[in-house]
Amino acid sequence: MHINSNLPKNILAWYDNNRRTLPWRVGKKSPKKLYYRLLSEFMLQQTQVKTVIPYFNKFTKKFKTLNSLSKVTEREILKLWEGLGYYRRARNLLASSKILVKKYKSELPTTLNEIKTLPGVGEYTANALLGLVHNKPTIAIDGNVKRVFARYLNKKEETINFEKFIISNKKKLFNTNRNSDFVEALMEFGALICKPKNPNCSICCLKKSCKYLKSSKKIKINKKKMIKNKDYDIFCYINKNQKIALTKKNKIGFLKNFNLPSIKETKNNLKNKNWKFLKNYQNSISNLKLNINLYYKFSDKIPPEYNWYSLKNNNEFIPSFTKRIFKQISVLF
Ligand code: ADE
Repeated sequence: MHINSNLPKNILAWYDNNRRTLPWRVGKKSPKKLYYRLLSEFMLQQTQVKTVIPYFNKFTKKFKTLNSLSKVTEREILKLWEGLGYYRRARNLLASSKILVKKYKSELPTTLNEIKTLPGVGEYTANALLGLVHNKPTIAIDGNVKRVFARYLNKKEETINFEKFIISNKKKLFNTNRNSDFVEALMEFGALICKPKNPNCSICCLKKSCKYLKSSKKIKINKKKMIKNKDYDIFCYINKNQKIALTKKNKIGFLKNFNLPSIKETKNNLKNKNWKFLKNYQNSISNLKLNINLYYKFSDKIPPEYNWYSLKNNNEFIPSFTKRIFKQISVLF
């Protein structure tokens, strides 16, 4: 499984002429490099570039340096992260920034193993940071990059051992001394040219050596993970002051530790007779498609683990999932 030695040069030339202007792409010498890369890589885990941009800009406007970010409270960072989802990232980002500031004097360690000790930094993010920040010869293998190489080799992703592939092509992959740009150029190329559906082969810079393009037996590109359907009943205590009772003690895995009304998997044989049915709607969250039945009850008494929150405004962090519930309940007032 060998690449043509011109591959990095070709992709970099394409990147130089076609890359998007993204706010975290700062110059090699910029003092903001580590901060911008750390913040953007955390935000870009599981989230698209266009969704991340306004959040990235909001954060960097409010916190100018890694040092100032590292001093915020968890409550404040969650409030700013509100709507971006996968909130564990916000907590890990805060913890990682504290460690970088205190233990590493606001520098990124220079070994992969040290970088991987940062909370929320796995194999992919560690390699991305090592390459992007220190220009080390490495490749961050995410879904995009796997697809690019799988296509180029016309081999199914599952049949490629990417670690071995990189080692055996080391000399060719890292022959430009532009390792930082190459990490990013590969992602950009996967996002803009070698896309999952309808790749832009007609304008591709790898035309000459791409096995997919040449083959009469082209590999099929894996589809996204199946979305599972699940049914939930949500029960909201509300009062006449336009407040809703929320608790962090719900047992539903995907929203553990977040403010929610009571949420239970739907049991067909259960009659929810003390509750008034409001509506049915769908809400997707990560790879789950939730079918929700929303119930409510006016009550001044709530179980001890619940607290009242205003439906209209509050300074608390409320995840989008719960905001959507607020919106539905608000029609009652
Ligand atoms: N996805 C993850 N990191 C990225 C980056 N630096 N640019 C574009 N997409 C990305």
